[in-house]
Amino acid sequence: MLTAYDYTLARIIDAAGTDVILVGDSASNVMAGHETTLPITLDHMIYHAQCVVRAVKRALVIVDLPFGSYQSDSRKALHSAIRVMKETGAHAVKVEGGSQSAQAAERILEAGIPVMGHLGLTPQSIYRFGTYKVRAREEEEAARLRADARLLERTGCFGVVLEKIPARLAEEVTASLSIPTIGIGAGRACDGQVLVTHDALGLTTDFSPRFVRRYASLAETITQCVRAYADDVRERRFPGASESY
Ligand code: KIV
Repeated sequence: MLTAYDYTLARIIDAAGTDVILVGDSASNVMAGHETTLPITLDHMIYHAQCVVRAVKRALVIVDLPFGSYQSDSRKALHSAIRVMKETGAHAVKVEGGSQSAQAAERILEAGIPVMGHLGLTPQSIYRFGTYKVRAREEEEAARLRADARLLERTGCFGVVLEKIPARLAEEVTASLSIPTIGIGAGRACDGQVLVTHDALGLTTDFSPRFVRRYASLAETITQCVRAYADDVRERRFPGASESY
């Protein structure tokens, strides 16, 4: 699973064989430059999801319900999920949290909309955590996470993202569930893995937690390309005869 927020990148990622594309609310950081995921709105998420869905031919497309669009009550949660499904053509939604989001997930599921859960370091709760450090190192929080994972499964979620928790806990949770777990900073025992595409491609340079593996250094490549283009223009090497009419 990889993230996408726009048509061009979604098209490449889909054609390369990605099984699941997440229109993550990390768009708030990556696309809009906000410090957290809290400011992004449902309208913004719908816009990003529309762009992605237009590009995708084979992947499952999941859209994050943003902060404030499902926490207050399950009617609002259902309304938000219905908007996502009607206006974007995506296949499923994702909500963060365990017991505090289970009612919302249940209401959405009753309407026939597939829901993915998200436990561990849930970025929409960053001001409760106060830090982006690994979650559930202590037994009390680990026990809560185990219970939340089982609750999400019972509620009918089709999968759960486990973010930034000890690998051993993720392994235990994965073994205890019949639905797939998708890990990010949660070790290799998860059934699948997700990364923010911009991190994996080296487009983001100011964010390098240890769970990110960089498969390219596109920020560097782009910088070189831009400099080469500017030099060519300044030296009148561009456009050449074959690039002119
Ligand atoms: O918003 C996002 O990109 C996510 C993934 C990191 C799981 O939720």
